[in-house]
Amino acid sequence: MNLTLKIWRQKNTTSQGKMVEYKVNNISEDMSFLEMMDILNEELIVKGDDPIAFDHDCREGICGMCSLYINGEAHGPDRGITTCQLHMRKFKDGDTIYIEPWRAKAFPVIKDLVVDRTSFERIMASGGFISVNTSGNTQDANNIPIPKDDADEAFDAATCIGCGACVATCKNSSAMLFVSAKVSQLALLPQGKLERERRVLNMVDQMDKEGFGNCTNTGACEVECPKGISLSNIARMNREYLRASLVKKD
Ligand code: SF4
Ligand code: FES
Repeated sequence: MNLTLKIWRQKNTTSQGKMVEYKVNNISEDMSFLEMMDILNEELIVKGDDPIAFDHDCREGICGMCSLYINGEAHGPDRGITTCQLHMRKFKDGDTIYIEPWRAKAFPVIKDLVVDRTSFERIMASGGFISVNTSGNTQDANNIPIPKDDADEAFDAATCIGCGACVATCKNSSAMLFVSAKVSQLALLPQGKLERERRVLNMVDQMDKEGFGNCTNTGACEVECPKGISLSNIARMNREYLRASLVKKD
């Protein structure tokens, strides 16, 4: 396949970016999207040009590092996958592909297609944890009976990889799907009950401070989420928040 790529280039957070056109030839449909980007970068390096900065790590759909807004869709034109799992067979010879970074006030561009997602880490640090007694007398987790439905729902919520596609695709740049997955995962299990009230109040507070927007129930986040995180988690987080506001603990 021969392709035209229009890629967002931006030197740093403060400089103004722009779309730049590149051509790539002889791309196999069996390549992953990121392998296609690697080939372009190798060509740029050989020419002495600055390679395009983009995030990636595991390339197996588990770390959440890869991002990319491809032809106006978070993680590109496929469903239930991350960018590293996208293959070139989803495109046709002669296509023009637009590649942009996640766009949200709380995810400032660091360079080209790389954005700063440390706002997610600050939200996690504000409450996305449990207190565990590591004295050596810790109770075996298997001694605590957990209803099967709760265990399943907690597991589903725990599959969120923190990629930020939900934010990037939301017209309000809301992080509610991400935060609600983290709140749900812990609120559903006995181990998460100790900080239950503090957790949801602090995480929502931090989410607001970071500049994420609110949820207006459009549902785009659920459609674009590579892990199928359900909107029902947002409903649960709203219930958790209301409950915590009524029984507030310090
Ligand atoms: S909820 Fe889905 S889209 Fe959002 S960060 Fe988690 S895995 Fe990514
Ligand atoms: S590089 Fe790890 S999920 Fe894509």
